[in-house]
Amino acid sequence: MKPSSEEEEVVQGVGPWDECFEVAVQLALRAGQIIRKALTEEKHVSTKTSAADLVTETDHRVEDLIVSELRKRFPSHSRFIAEEATASGAKCVLTHSPTWIIDPIDGTCNFVHRFPTVAVSIGFAVHQELEFGVIHHCTEERLYTGRRGQGAFCNGQRLQVSRETDLAKALVLTEIGPKRDPDTLKVFLSNMERLLHAKAHGVRVIGSSTLALCYLASGAADAYYQFGLHCWDLAAATVIIREAGGIVMDTSGGPLDLMSCRVVAAGTREMAVLIAQALQTINYGRDDEK
Ligand code: IPD
Repeated sequence: MKPSSEEEEVVQGVGPWDECFEVAVQLALRAGQIIRKALTEEKHVSTKTSAADLVTETDHRVEDLIVSELRKRFPSHSRFIAEEATASGAKCVLTHSPTWIIDPIDGTCNFVHRFPTVAVSIGFAVHQELEFGVIHHCTEERLYTGRRGQGAFCNGQRLQVSRETDLAKALVLTEIGPKRDPDTLKVFLSNMERLLHAKAHGVRVIGSSTLALCYLASGAADAYYQFGLHCWDLAAATVIIREAGGIVMDTSGGPLDLMSCRVVAAGTREMAVLIAQALQTINYGRDDEK
């Protein structure tokens, strides 16, 4: 079968990933300016899958900007997985074609409350392989980047994960996820309790999956786990963590499945396995089946 024009670029090895990366960086910085300004302004807030799953006009504005600029700059790219388009019914499918995976505001609830832990996340995959990730911590003006085989950086400084293998010496990060029904909360809290019983130094919830994963990549935490995050929360951060020397895996202990709405990440495989073994599953379904 003849490859499509967008696949041909990959087959011939002339894929413009350098240019794609540079454009992603510029767009993440531009988006950051918009978000910083909007943070202090009045917001129109709506809910999506639950009362804790929020969206504002700024999420839409930033997503529209990023997607429309990418379409202009890379007209042969037709695959976009973007949080708000998906919420409006767009399918979430990772094919072999170059695919942009975008979270316009990660930490929307923080954004609504002016809690300053808010990010833009842009990931890029080809042949279902993550090529690069760009995450902009908007309020602290920190730009995290990772490119497959080329390392991970924050504002130009190379990132390195922690080498901790002992759960009893670990600082662990997690996020609550959008479901708040009693059964889900029970398992969420019992997972946290199990890690505290195992004598982890602490378990933190900062309200942004992507930034928590960036802290892990920086060595500021030893592990991360979550049920209920999405491929746009994970894509860019996964490249950054791997390039910083870390492990990103499924909560079953198997390989990461970007569409599975669950993850364990750590500086070392030993730590990731210990966390995975401690967890009870919360079923959030799959992004590609919604
Ligand atoms: C959410 C945040 C939140 C996490 C959710 C994410 P959003 O992203 O990262 O902390 O618990 O699972 O989906 O909705 O702010 O982009």
